[in-house]
Amino acid sequence: MNHKISSLFDYTTKYENSISNPEDFWGEIAEDFHWRKPWSKVLDWNFEEPKMEWFKDSKLNLTENIFERLLSTHADKTAILWEPNDPNSDSVSLTYAELFEATCKFANAMRANGIEKGDRVIIYMPMVPEAAIAMLACARIGAVHSVVFAGFSSSALADRINDCQAKMVLTSDGNFRGSKQIPVKAVVDEALEKTTTIEKVIVLKRTGEPVNMKTGRDIWWSDAIADQSSENEAEVMDAEDILFILYTSGSTGQPKGVVHSIAGYMVYTYYSFINVFQYEESDVYWCTADVGWITGHSYIVYGPLLAGATTLMFEGVPTYPHPGRFWEIIDKYKVNQFYTAPTAIRALQVYGLEPIEKYTLDSLKVIGSVGEPINEEAWHWYHENIGKGRCPLVDTWWQTETGGIMISPLAGITPNKPAHASLPLPGVQPVIVDAEGNELLGNNVEGNLCIRFPWPSIIRTTYGDHNRCKETYFSTYKGMYFTGDGVKRDHDGYLRILGRVDDVINVSGHRMGTAEVENAINEHPEVVESAVVGFPHPIKGQGIYAYAICNSSTKPNAEMESEIKALVRKIIGPIAKPEHVQIVSDLPKTRSGKIMRRILRKVASKDVSSLGDTSTLLNPEIVEEIIKGAGLE
Ligand code: PRX
Repeated sequence: MNHKISSLFDYTTKYENSISNPEDFWGEIAEDFHWRKPWSKVLDWNFEEPKMEWFKDSKLNLTENIFERLLSTHADKTAILWEPNDPNSDSVSLTYAELFEATCKFANAMRANGIEKGDRVIIYMPMVPEAAIAMLACARIGAVHSVVFAGFSSSALADRINDCQAKMVLTSDGNFRGSKQIPVKAVVDEALEKTTTIEKVIVLKRTGEPVNMKTGRDIWWSDAIADQSSENEAEVMDAEDILFILYTSGSTGQPKGVVHSIAGYMVYTYYSFINVFQYEESDVYWCTADVGWITGHSYIVYGPLLAGATTLMFEGVPTYPHPGRFWEIIDKYKVNQFYTAPTAIRALQVYGLEPIEKYTLDSLKVIGSVGEPINEEAWHWYHENIGKGRCPLVDTWWQTETGGIMISPLAGITPNKPAHASLPLPGVQPVIVDAEGNELLGNNVEGNLCIRFPWPSIIRTTYGDHNRCKETYFSTYKGMYFTGDGVKRDHDGYLRILGRVDDVINVSGHRMGTAEVENAINEHPEVVESAVVGFPHPIKGQGIYAYAICNSSTKPNAEMESEIKALVRKIIGPIAKPEHVQIVSDLPKTRSGKIMRRILRKVASKDVSSLGDTSTLLNPEIVEEIIKGAGLE
């Protein structure tokens, strides 16, 4: 690991170098890897089209950089540690050599079932080692994976299959999640009634519950690998070939397929992993995310494995069978780096200190936070009670589109400041702009967060619709990538992320587009129109508050409210279910017909003391009705 930053001075020097000579900076890091053909140019780019090509013309296979590159030194080192949902079941440990063998076998099984380079494969699986094996096997044969979080509904799954025209689904019979057992295969069967492109479904036996296996289409995982060789010749890929598509919500329409390509993503996830977490060779690292999200891709699977780390995967939930489960696991495996979400911290904070006191937590060296702003109270609680005041807390800001951590303390290297993501990683050039796109220089400024120069794991396109990528990220402010987040640079020059400035709600660290939830609500035959906003939630960060206009139904409001909640759950999944549904006779609209969300947000937040100017409303009288309906009079 030649490229681990070792001191504050080193950070400053590297940062300056990364800005003045970005190609040299990234070229040197990329030399850590094995390339089948070297690049002709480190970077070719413009943000107008946009086009970002990193390590241009080079050829490689990402998995060769985990396996062939590392096996001479890491064959017997544990690559994946797996803790099951039930603490009394057996855990699993796979060495790099074993993981390589499992990857090759499954890669061969996918090929034998018709998957070729470039084909799209959906992974809809629980948090088991096979989910990581599936991702790596796709990368091995040049197939493009798209992991769909297994909590999404059948229609959300069908939408994603249809958008990327996937050929195969990898799934399980059922999933264990805390005390629940989720019939995943049945969800896949339902989704496939709305799709036409899936040829094969490979099913891992996990819960043992009975499932329908469609002849000619569905194969058990164990049968698929039974006769496969444990050797596999890696497909030689272009640097800019697609590694994966990951769907994420935006402020408009359907979720978009964020595309990441191979070489840049490989270099950046490795580089950011070793630097942010300061991983050392014998450490055990644990990220509690799910592989269905970008955090699971970059910091459970790719980043750690490219760095030869031991990465822990956990199948269950933080409170099962007891609220000390996380802390129990940390002691059990002597976890050194622990990376979780503020929502989990806030949810566990509610149980007080008793569940923690049984455990020493003395293996911990670094603790991390991701996915949403961490409030100061949660920051201090986490730092004092879990990090025992001695572990640096890395508050890592990044996005599905950035592929890797962009703004974060480097553990023990750059200073910590509560609730601040603090400073950019070397190679990252953040800019704060006002509404017109003017750069706000100096300290004590607040505005919209943009990035002015590409980094290797930047989004390449939105699958099947390049213009959407251009419009969403590269058109708001000319010549810059726009993140959708607000940010403040404080008097010390440290960055504090303020949250989304668009119509995206962050619920428990999960991104939900308001338009997506509204579309689901509007599917109800009695709903005429709806509007969805976020409101501050003590545990989830933000909750979803929906307003719906219904036609002349005789149903009581309470019935409509629960039907609407159930419908959203069915169409998108439990994470999108509104916390509150308020039935209204109209929505506050401007003369041009635009819903004035500002007012709806205020009501949802129970803060109606200053509603601002409502004189431009077409129907000002509705405001009072809504306030009354919300019980805020
Ligand atoms: O609003 C920011 C918030 O999460 C958004 C990205 O969501 P997603 O693509 O699902 O990726 C989450 C995991 C990287 C961002 O636009 N966000 C993420 N990390 C932080 C954060 N907000 C504040 N502080 C963070 N550390």
